[in-house]
Amino acid sequence: MSEITNILNKNIVLEIKDLYKSFGDNDVLNGFNMKLYQGENLVIMGKSGSGKSVMIKCLVGLIEADSGSITVMQNDITKLTQEALDILRADIGFLFQGSALYDSMTVRENLEFPLRRHKKKMSVNLNTEDLVMEALTNVGLAHTVDLMPSELSGGMKRRVALARTLILQPKIILYDEPTSGLDPITAKEIIILMQDIQKKYNTSSLIITHDVDCARVISDRMLLLIDGIDYAVGSYEELSNSEDSKIKAFFKH
Ligand SMILES: Nc1ncnc2c1ncn2[C@@H]1O[C@H](COP(=O)(O)OP(=O)(O)O)[C@@H](O)[C@H]1O
Ligand SMILES: [Mg+2]
Repeated sequence: MSEITNILNKNIVLEIKDLYKSFGDNDVLNGFNMKLYQGENLVIMGKSGSGKSVMIKCLVGLIEADSGSITVMQNDITKLTQEALDILRADIGFLFQGSALYDSMTVRENLEFPLRRHKKKMSVNLNTEDLVMEALTNVGLAHTVDLMPSELSGGMKRRVALARTLILQPKIILYDEPTSGLDPITAKEIIILMQDIQKKYNTSSLIITHDVDCARVISDRMLLLIDGIDYAVGSYEELSNSEDSKIKAFFKH
């Protein structure tokens, strides 16, 4: 309880209000709301196909919402110029579902890619090689710098993808199913890494997962996306003890 109160005294870094998104007659988001506070890990759970990825894609501008507002660090993103939006985007790291590394590029080239795109933010006398090696060292993979993605295991690919997200030193990190498709031990390693990164850089994270163990370990707060809305918000403790049948369904193994 006191932990939650502490979080609520902090600044909101990201806020979604009344978000609607349909594809034809498929109403995916029906008035979704969410707040992310500075330094917290907010876990979002929802059934497969419930609109979690659609929501996160609206956040980063990959999908245009039908209506609603999205505010990132006090900026309404629907009202920003392209240039302002690009600058803001450099502060938001997005770890896609799967790893989405470029298969034809080495690990080094994969990490250099976002640096080139966001030159402005990273230009101040920062050496590309140093940034690449620092990001890889953070995920324990400095030795893979010259390898191709096909030479890496699934867990290593996920860590390289995380390093690529970290290289721009984002203030907010959005994780879409960071542990999906990994064996339990590798999944746990990724979770520990996410926690280390949060501590080291005091990032605010939004973590989409269907992994209840991941949610228990990493969440400061949780949000359940059900029927296109923010159906329930609370600590893992509160939600896992709920008597609501829709909420209970998430916690039975
Ligand atoms: N680009 C798209 N065009 C049409 N329908 C889409 C598109 N992206 C997602 N959908 C639909 O939106 C719904 C939610 O998908 P998604 O957000 O990917 O679910 P999940 O919660 O598993 O991440 C699904 O019914 C999916 O088919
Ligand atoms: Mg998804």
